[in-house]
Amino acid sequence: MTSGTRHTRASSSPTATADRPAAAKARFWDKIARKYAADPVTDMAGYETTLARARALIAPTHRVLEIGCGTGTTALRLGPCYGHLVATDVSAEMIAIAREKLAAAPQPNLEFQVVDADALAFGQASHDVVLAFNVLHLVSDLDAALTSVENTLAPGGLFISKTPCIADMNPLLGKVLLPVMRLVGKAPPVLCFRAPDLQAALTRHGLEIVAVEYHGTKGKDLRPFIVARKRGS
Ligand SMILES: C[S@@+](CC[C@H](N)C(=O)[O-])C[C@H]1O[C@@H](n2cnc3c(N)ncnc32)[C@H](O)[C@@H]1O
Repeated sequence: MTSGTRHTRASSSPTATADRPAAAKARFWDKIARKYAADPVTDMAGYETTLARARALIAPTHRVLEIGCGTGTTALRLGPCYGHLVATDVSAEMIAIAREKLAAAPQPNLEFQVVDADALAFGQASHDVVLAFNVLHLVSDLDAALTSVENTLAPGGLFISKTPCIADMNPLLGKVLLPVMRLVGKAPPVLCFRAPDLQAALTRHGLEIVAVEYHGTKGKDLRPFIVARKRGS
């Protein structure tokens, strides 16, 4: 964890450090990928709102990058509002499932790649939009990941995130439940931050907050949909 962002890690594991190899980060997700793919979206109405808002922000010329795409559900649903979308995930199993889905219903401007969001290497200003749904709490180092996102975005480009802010939830979740689940292999290492801390981190990394919305339709929503613009024209 870097000192810049106010967050703690809900894990007692000594392996929960910023320099964990990608293979170690992928292990938990590789194991559960088929089950994750089979699980229904819990709040479909909220998800549809998120998809509609994302589509409205993306133009047909945009080069879009998605980090932590899982089995590609969102990438496959977004098309064809973008010019090109590369959807990425650290888990090869998640990407294998995403590619199976794409093969069953091909979309010419969409591709899936295995990529660690902690170490993006797409080149300076190579994308107009970066999407991060349900993944920022899972990266090893939030500040490092946001530096990477900022480098990848073209000036004026958009970062669109929807991420659980675990420190805003029941304190027992981050302090007790998740560490115990992690110990028995039922949860990955997670970062616990509050929504204001996440917004402050984005701002600190040159990403100006454009919108903060809540799309959930079931109970209290602690996953803000945040749109932030990289400074520059
Ligand atoms: C909760 S799932 C979310 C998947 C998808 N974005 C969604 O909203 O359904 C988290 C995903 O993030 C991926 N992930 C975790 N750590 C990652 C990292 N360091 N880089 C890229 N992907 C990562 C996992 O493999 C998993 O597919």
